[in-house]
Amino acid sequence: GDYTGPLRPRVHYSPPKGFMNDPNGLFKDSNGTWHLYYQYNPTDVVAGNQHWGHATSPDLYTWTNQPIALFPPNSTSGVFSGSIVTDPGNTSGFFPNTTNGVVAIYTLNTPEKQTQEIAYSFDDGYTFTPYAGNPVLDVNSKQFRDPKVVRYGDNWVMVIAFAAEYVIGIYTSPDLKTWTHASNVSHVGFLGVQYECPNLVELPIRSGDNSSNGRGADEEKGWVLTISINPGAPLGGSITQYFPGEFNGTHFTPHDGATRLSNFGKDDYAGQFFYNQSVSIGWASNWEYTNLVPTAKEGWRSSMTLPRENYLVDTGVKGWELVQEIYDLQPIVSNNLTSSRNLVNTSQEVGFGDGNGTAVYFDLNITLPTNITFSPYASINFTFSTASSGEQLKGGYILAGATPYTIWVDRGKTNGFEYPLFTEKFSASQLKPAQRIQGIIDKSLSEIYVDNGALVGTVDVYPTAPFTKLSVGTGDLPEGSNVSLEVWELKDTWA
Ligand code: FRU
Repeated sequence: GDYTGPLRPRVHYSPPKGFMNDPNGLFKDSNGTWHLYYQYNPTDVVAGNQHWGHATSPDLYTWTNQPIALFPPNSTSGVFSGSIVTDPGNTSGFFPNTTNGVVAIYTLNTPEKQTQEIAYSFDDGYTFTPYAGNPVLDVNSKQFRDPKVVRYGDNWVMVIAFAAEYVIGIYTSPDLKTWTHASNVSHVGFLGVQYECPNLVELPIRSGDNSSNGRGADEEKGWVLTISINPGAPLGGSITQYFPGEFNGTHFTPHDGATRLSNFGKDDYAGQFFYNQSVSIGWASNWEYTNLVPTAKEGWRSSMTLPRENYLVDTGVKGWELVQEIYDLQPIVSNNLTSSRNLVNTSQEVGFGDGNGTAVYFDLNITLPTNITFSPYASINFTFSTASSGEQLKGGYILAGATPYTIWVDRGKTNGFEYPLFTEKFSASQLKPAQRIQGIIDKSLSEIYVDNGALVGTVDVYPTAPFTKLSVGTGDLPEGSNVSLEVWELKDTWA
């Protein structure tokens, strides 16, 4: 692949060429290597001709492209989304001589129907053999897809979408070959037009003090079901929602009737959790415009979100909240561009990337006096600018006024892509003022993380020239406030 194009992310994964959508089969192998598979059209820059592309990484940021892992059997079918499990105990019978068995479970899409198939690998997921007894699950439906399998006790558990019926089916199996219907979760949250790509995951529950420490060996855990909807998201097109609840091996019961969105932008869809891990990656795009975005002139379309470490926080009256921290950035952190200790009611400019741009990470830590009334104009602002075209990606945090404690991002002042559904402005609100705002701009993709990932905004952005400058400032903050700013260049993982 040619990764030199000006819109190519440097630390987010994008395919060597062609079109990518959902992350699939995420797992960590017996050597500690992370595997990312993805919905892939290797022959065109629009969706279709679905294969499983494949890439591997030691750190979830530095990726090596691998040969395509799964091919459709003929030109009218596609290998749709699915998941991977490891089978050290040889429950499947495929692996009498190894404890490193890997099994992929995916949807075969044909003009007649969508069925579930499996394929097994003896080499840690680089090559696969389709099971001779496929399909393993066929309910004669055209809208039955995206199996995600987890281990529960002595069973395998699959969640899968009856996409057009707003039903998530739960199936169990002793061997990954025979599946028994156990229960359904139906008509929860936003329905949109279809349910897709469910995930069922057990995550740690941490204290709600916005800190990333406090992980103990005996920490409590809780279950979450995620359901992606497309089209028909509140902001248009695609989005992922999640439901905290209880799971007993066969039935999932949401705690309440609420739906919660996992992102305040609209470019984070079909996220998947790595098998047996609390780490996830999403597809950083939206079906409303993914086939139209201007990266096609560089021969590729779509990137993945950053990898995230997920946990739950018990917020009391609001229930469990999903927190999505940026996964350990240390391996890719490069030059420190600034460390300012006091950015109260002043601003600072930082240039980066020698005129060609690069991936940049900023980290704002905010301490505010308690029990004070904020001026209606109290705010924190960050703006990425191009050198000469006058384009900007703007964002900030409002501390008072009509909508206190609100993060916002505006991609409207960029000129590389005009389309009515390419929404310009995004925002989300909190009950308490933010203590930390982290952001990454990575060429055509930006991500904002508030309070270590209590709120996440993923926003694709298409300037006609690279961003080369970041300005951060605060205004009207009360006496006694403290704001620190650190800005780092990130390593170019494709150089
Ligand atoms: C979600 C999705 C899945 C399907 C895949 C096809 O984006 O529509 O439901 O398996 O993409 O590429």
